[in-house]
Amino acid sequence: MKWERKDLIGLEDVSPEEIWHILEVAKGFKKKLVEKDVKKIATFENKNFVTLFYQASTRTRFSFEIAAKNLGLNVMNFSSATTSVSKGESLYDTVKTLEAMGVDIFAIRHGMSGSARYIAEHTPAHVLNAGDGVHEHPTQSLLDMFTIWESKGKLDGVKVVLVGDHDHNRSSRSNTWALSKMGAEVVLCGPRTLVSDEYTDLGGRFVGDVEEALKEADVIYTFRIQQERQEPGLVPSLGEYSRFYGINEERLRFAKPDVVVLHPAPMIRGSEITSAVADGSHSLVFEMVTNGVAVRMALIYLLLGGES
Ligand code: CP
Repeated sequence: MKWERKDLIGLEDVSPEEIWHILEVAKGFKKKLVEKDVKKIATFENKNFVTLFYQASTRTRFSFEIAAKNLGLNVMNFSSATTSVSKGESLYDTVKTLEAMGVDIFAIRHGMSGSARYIAEHTPAHVLNAGDGVHEHPTQSLLDMFTIWESKGKLDGVKVVLVGDHDHNRSSRSNTWALSKMGAEVVLCGPRTLVSDEYTDLGGRFVGDVEEALKEADVIYTFRIQQERQEPGLVPSLGEYSRFYGINEERLRFAKPDVVVLHPAPMIRGSEITSAVADGSHSLVFEMVTNGVAVRMALIYLLLGGES
């Protein structure tokens, strides 16, 4: 089966069949990664890949870079601080300039919601959204779903409790859309000031009390308070947030005994998650990073016309 898309901007309009297709292809790549057998799959040697990041990143940028290199692409990293963006060049002109040099595929992260779609509409190159404002982070959600599928064997009927600042978190938005359409039970937990009514319409059920929300949970997905994206005063302090919503060993006891804990990272240890949980036996935080490489390999492979 071929995947007939030029770009991946978000998961809102991606069907469950397409999501399964991506996860199945990623499963094949994960096996290659675990077996350290990626050399034979370097199939796109004449293609150019640019990570076009206007915001900070560790996992997503390096993961895209490694994924693209594993597939044999030439990879170039763009940083807004050291390019002509610092002289005032627009996003449009930057993309058209790189396109004129022969870039085939962009992974873009930008602070403006809608920027990935805007670029996709103005370049014949493929565009992968690596996070646009507070809109979507589709590759993060795909690796989250891959991790849940790998640990639980299914997505349908799995109770996933997302705990944190939903309104300012693009991973939460992508996950709420995607997990709901994959049949998971999505519970949104956090301070009411960080979960707007518009947000709960996406498919999740709001439960304000964390211990109530965690009852019978199969998966706890916690994420940090996005202080850099919110106006002041939505939560009194990180200490208070931690007291009411932080995931610690005591709170894990409300969930199922085999609950798994996910975090997209970066983690603020001691705030939304304790070190005991982050490094404990329920945590899949670092397995998610490996899965991110496999998922991003699958996406690059499929967008460039690879067949499953
Ligand atoms: N999860 C995530 O997007 O991490 P980075 O910001 O480090 O890419």
